Amino acid sequence: MSEQNAAPNAEQIEVWNGATGAKWVRYQDRLDRMLAPFGEAVIRAASIQPGERVLDVGCGCGATTLDAATRTGPGGRVLGVDISLPMVERARERSAARKLPAAFAVSDASLHDFGDDAFDLLISRFGVMFFDEPAAAFTNLHGALAKNGRLAFVCWRTMPENPWLAVPLRAALPLLPPFESPPPGAPGPFAFADSARVTALLTEAGFRDIEMKPFDAQLVLGTPGGDPVAEALDQSLEIGPLSRLLADQPDDLRRRVAEAVRAELAKHQTADGVTVGGATWIVTAKA
Ligand SMILES: C[S@@+](CC[C@H](N)C(=O)[O-])C[C@H]1O[C@@H](n2cnc3c(N)ncnc32)[C@H](O)[C@@H]1O
Repeated sequence: MSEQNAAPNAEQIEVWNGATGAKWVRYQDRLDRMLAPFGEAVIRAASIQPGERVLDVGCGCGATTLDAATRTGPGGRVLGVDISLPMVERARERSAARKLPAAFAVSDASLHDFGDDAFDLLISRFGVMFFDEPAAAFTNLHGALAKNGRLAFVCWRTMPENPWLAVPLRAALPLLPPFESPPPGAPGPFAFADSARVTALLTEAGFRDIEMKPFDAQLVLGTPGGDPVAEALDQSLEIGPLSRLLADQPDDLRRRVAEAVRAELAKHQTADGVTVGGATWIVTAKA
């Protein structure tokens, strides 16, 4: 983190309120379709009961918040918290059309004062890997949970186990200038790939009965109907690590990378569209 960004999570706040947040809003439908199997796996692991109070951390455009609110019913409540104003605005729009016990806050979950014993359950679909100080963040979240409260979230395993990102990246790498990879565990999609690290930091934060189960599913990057390879290519270049690596590159290089990535993605075209594997941990624990 640079010195002018010394406040906790300042870099992520900038990222998710800038171009990255805007893209997640623009591609919300597609991303929700792509990530649906993982959200469903979290919801299954969470076993939400009617009347429960649920906190959705890093709720983004609100898919899992709204899903949870259909399960708590009117006797419960669900709060989605996220640092990204544009993504929370989208979540609020989607929620307004439905009479669900869901509310949203634009706030840093690692610092937000939720009150003590405010929730029975914490859930997250890929929203907890971006904290500068994860043990401190989870200590704050632990404090928001009732005694016997519980946690269920999904996070990515390592990049090589996730072809949906590794395939486009590997195709692009020979064409890109050298760059420095982030150190292992740095805030980002793969920060929680190491199960020993996640177990240690959740333990430090006060959680117990921690379980991490691998969950793999296919991600549909391009849907059948239109041009699935073009859709998959667009998504691979616009979202995730490759989009950041291409951000300042000249048009000619971007074109050559696009050709190389398109050729690799075409190899993954099936009757269901362009489908590429994803590998996650489903993490559960008790407060
Ligand atoms: C990969 S996106 C996932 C969004 C959403 N859960 C979904 O599955 O569509 C990660 C989300 O975490 C949010 N986030 C990152 N750091 C955060 C923090 N400290 N507090 C709250 N939200 C945070 C980002 O703004 C972003 O919306």
